Amino acid sequence: MSRILVTGGAGFIASHTNVELLNAGYEVIVLDNLCNSSKESIRRVEQLTGKQITFYEADLVDEDVVEEIFAKESIDAVIHFAGLKAVGESCKIPLRYFDNNLCGTLNLLKSMEKHGCKSLVFSSSATVYGKPATVPITEDFPLSVSNPYGRTKLIIEDMLRDIYQADDSWDIALLRYFNPIGAHESGMIGEDPNGIPNNLMPYIAKVAGGELEQVNVFGDDYDTPDGTGVRDYIHVVDLAVGHIKALEKLEKHPGLVTYNLGTGVGYSVLDIIHNFEKACGHKVPYRITERRPGDIDACYADPTKAKEELGWEAVRGIDKMCEDTWRWQQKNPKGYLA
Ligand code: NAD
Ligand code: UD1
Repeated sequence: MSRILVTGGAGFIASHTNVELLNAGYEVIVLDNLCNSSKESIRRVEQLTGKQITFYEADLVDEDVVEEIFAKESIDAVIHFAGLKAVGESCKIPLRYFDNNLCGTLNLLKSMEKHGCKSLVFSSSATVYGKPATVPITEDFPLSVSNPYGRTKLIIEDMLRDIYQADDSWDIALLRYFNPIGAHESGMIGEDPNGIPNNLMPYIAKVAGGELEQVNVFGDDYDTPDGTGVRDYIHVVDLAVGHIKALEKLEKHPGLVTYNLGTGVGYSVLDIIHNFEKACGHKVPYRITERRPGDIDACYADPTKAKEELGWEAVRGIDKMCEDTWRWQQKNPKGYLA
């Protein structure tokens, strides 16, 4: 497998994965409609690696365009990142989420089948565990969802399980990411959210950079050591490496496999703020506010299965996650548009 189609390939996690793919000798073909990203990330990955990416500015929801790309390019495997991902927005415009994430995936799968390309890595999420009864979470925990974004992830996982049931010549890796943060250590690529960030780390980075006033800590009465929410933050480069390991696994024809990609360590909101203060060298102001609806107390992975079966584990700690985020923020205060 050498030619990889990366859907959503201009986005945050994909841009870091593209670096690892190119450095490992894969050819990368990106399909992205740039609805939440910039072509500049592709240019920077090319600059970082000294290698070229074939880029299609195209919408997965456009069946004909997807088919044209498969007819033109000879694709060995697909890493499917493309999707809308904002939980709050998905509750307001669920149809747009269903159309984009589900119809886009259907088009992709139909073209893959037609062209005999049956190796797929799918970006799933820890959100499919809903409100877990206990932590750490293993892959066999019950699945449930509480918002339309999460529903698209679970439906796609279910579709892929059905497809595999019907035709076991597919090889599929469902990767359930925990909370990706950080940036490439060059500071050249990183997370570039539109408008005010929803997620904690990019919000903290903008407060530390002086662009936003203070962090709103959503509740300090959770059942956790300091009362603030606990999550499994994982460095995006560790996550990216996990995709290379998943592709290597697919080459051995394992059928359908599912892995948690997390560190196994939970940090609270206040832990993250204080670690970020160490990285940036000054205080990050915050205030405690109301809980955010839908948030859970604690969520972290048991990553043993990925370690045993993929030979993968996260090696970058919280200090590095904060330092690399801060470097990206300082070098690119306005993201890719600067
Ligand atoms: P991102 O928004 O940076 O990347 C997604 C990319 O997909 C963007 O470049 C966007 O332009 C593109 N895209 C969206 N719809 C498209 C369409 N119809 N056609 C073509 N391109 C389209 O997000 P990310 O954080 O890099 O996430 C990548 C994947 O991982 C998503 O599927 C997301 O749901 C999943 N995921 C992300 C997280 C996280 O915290 N970032 C956690 C779990 C799972
Ligand atoms: C969010 C998504 C989840 C997705 C995951 C990975 C929601 C409700 N869930 O998870 O579906 O899989 O991202 O991308 O959006 N927090 C603050 N202040 C802020 C922002 C966040 O206190 O300004 C807290 C939250 O309450 C939570 C923690 O920080 O305890 C992490 O929040 P966030 O970064 O948004 O990720 P999740 O909610 O875990």
